[in-house]
Amino acid sequence: MPINALNIRRARPVVIIAAFLLILLVSSGCYNTKTGEVKVGGAITFDLPVFPKTGSHAVQIFSEMHYSPAYRSQEVPRILPPEGSVPITGAEVKVLDIDKLKTLDGQVHSGSYDAVESARVYAVNCQVCHGQTLLGDGPITTLNSARGDGSKVYDGAIPVNLVSERVTSLSDGEIFGYITWGGRPGLAAAAREKESTAIMPQFGYLLTEEQRWHLVQYIRDQSR
Ligand code: HEC
Repeated sequence: MPINALNIRRARPVVIIAAFLLILLVSSGCYNTKTGEVKVGGAITFDLPVFPKTGSHAVQIFSEMHYSPAYRSQEVPRILPPEGSVPITGAEVKVLDIDKLKTLDGQVHSGSYDAVESARVYAVNCQVCHGQTLLGDGPITTLNSARGDGSKVYDGAIPVNLVSERVTSLSDGEIFGYITWGGRPGLAAAAREKESTAIMPQFGYLLTEEQRWHLVQYIRDQSR
């Protein structure tokens, strides 16, 4: 059978259904003859060609292009760069894998390290929990509750002592990863694509990559 004949035979029911729907919509009064706007049950609106009231006219079959998949800018699902791509804009590639984090190092940013600036960044973002001397005894841990019964405001996980063996024995990349994702629980949650429930914020969203590497160096300096 010639291909054309096959197509026409297949297409015929579609044409009949489309024509039937068109007649139904036009006759049921939800077709605006002036603008071509068609409303179905208040939920669906689309445009048909405007048909002249008198005289003959060809029935136009619309091709339903709005059903074809199309991605607008910033629309989800976002198309992410392929694994291992090198960003030409310098945007950060966030690493979630702990083994990969261990191999990272902050050498690229060490040239711009400014101890005074990093102390300021630490004081603003970390001190409230980890304390002025990094011992994990920030004001949040000692604040008395307003109840006046000697209970504390804070009863969450103890902020880690950043100058203890626990942290000094970590690689730069690990410390960087924990700052980026909100400690070990934050990293674990992110690796499972879950929202973090950790006390510590995910500083990957709050500080630049450079600021976080500088904090690693700041923690190292304070540990000496
Ligand atoms: C709201 C309190 C809070 C703030 C603010 C905070 N942290 Fe934490 N941090 C914690 C807690 C609590 C932990 C222990 C992990 C947990 O259970 O969430 C932790 C864990 C860590 C760890 C992982 C240490 C380990 O060995 O597990 C590092 C590194 C760290 N914080 C560095 C920082 C730095 C640097 C900042 C500032 C940019 C910061 N934190 C801000 C509460 C905080």
